[in-house]
Amino acid sequence: MLTIDGVTKTYRGGVRANDGVHLRVGASEVYGLLGHNGAGKTTLVNQVVGLAAPDAGTIVLDGQDLVADPGLARRLCSIQPQAQVPITGLTPRRAIELTGRLRGGRADDARRRTAALADALDIGEWMDTDAARLSGGVKRLTSFAMAAVVPGRLVILDEPTNDVDPVRRRLLWAQVRALADGGAGVLLVTHNVVEAERSVDRLAILDRGRVVVEGTPVELRASVPDELRLDLTLEPGAEPPDPPAWALRAVRENGHRMVVTVPAFRAGDAAGWALAEQRAGRVEEFGLAPATLEDAYVALVGGTDRAEVRDGRAA
Ligand SMILES: Nc1ncnc2c1ncn2[C@@H]1O[C@H](COP(=O)(O)OP(=O)(O)OP(=O)(O)O)[C@@H](O)[C@H]1O
Ligand SMILES: [Mg+2]
Repeated sequence: MLTIDGVTKTYRGGVRANDGVHLRVGASEVYGLLGHNGAGKTTLVNQVVGLAAPDAGTIVLDGQDLVADPGLARRLCSIQPQAQVPITGLTPRRAIELTGRLRGGRADDARRRTAALADALDIGEWMDTDAARLSGGVKRLTSFAMAAVVPGRLVILDEPTNDVDPVRRRLLWAQVRALADGGAGVLLVTHNVVEAERSVDRLAILDRGRVVVEGTPVELRASVPDELRLDLTLEPGAEPPDPPAWALRAVRENGHRMVVTVPAFRAGDAAGWALAEQRAGRVEEFGLAPATLEDAYVALVGGTDRAEVRDGRAA
């Protein structure tokens, strides 16, 4: 349905934000776009919706060239932007209904659909509150509802769950799925690998403007097939344990958590080592589990945001 081929975009000043990006998003598919800060995700979606023009490459939706016709792009796509939408002077109800009308919905349909989304996202109590007095999370959910009220063929969500509480996140994910079940393609930008693992059908990881890997969560997880993760909660105040020599990686997540990645055939050794560390009073708790998509992500693009204990010994 959406075909992005060879999209390249260099900003004035020389930053190449997208570098030959290829992507395919199908109808009824939730497609995740993951990547570090500054990887080029927002730049890419801005070009899809006609807010910026690529230097090279093509963007085609249902056989129609979006680069040639940015107006068409805006009609065919609905977007929840990463930046909070200014709805000053409006209430969520007005903002969502108005967006529905602007997207070509009938008045009574827009009203009904707005009420249904308010219910589904559990924001009913704020629907008639002035925008200036809304919390960050309710603003974010309002912005999602504006993208979902009369969805385009393609719905683009740029960090939709930022600021949203865990219970409403689940409600939001259910609505994302409902959009896809209704036939839309959903392009979902997120940093949250754990949530993405549960919620997307396929995903791509963008690294410095390039797609480095693409596939289903299961396929990506399989890129670290023979690894287990040993999650350690460290005993407060005690000297942290030295990772065993056969560990593949050891990452200190914060003051009292450490994740040691080990080859799967070392499962028994890993459990024995952790038990010994527990008896020695250095480890409070531990768990051994198959590698997650987050582990695959870190292995693929490098864990630059976390201190590596081994290979560098920064803490
Ligand atoms: N208008 C602009 N002018 C110049 N450079 C820009 C502009 N917008 C973004 N950039 C640069 O382009 C690169 C990609 O930015 P982009 O906003 O697309 O990243 P992102 O993947 O959305 O990041 P984040 O996860 O932080 O939202 C970054 O290096 C950024 O500094
Ligand atoms: Mg962004």
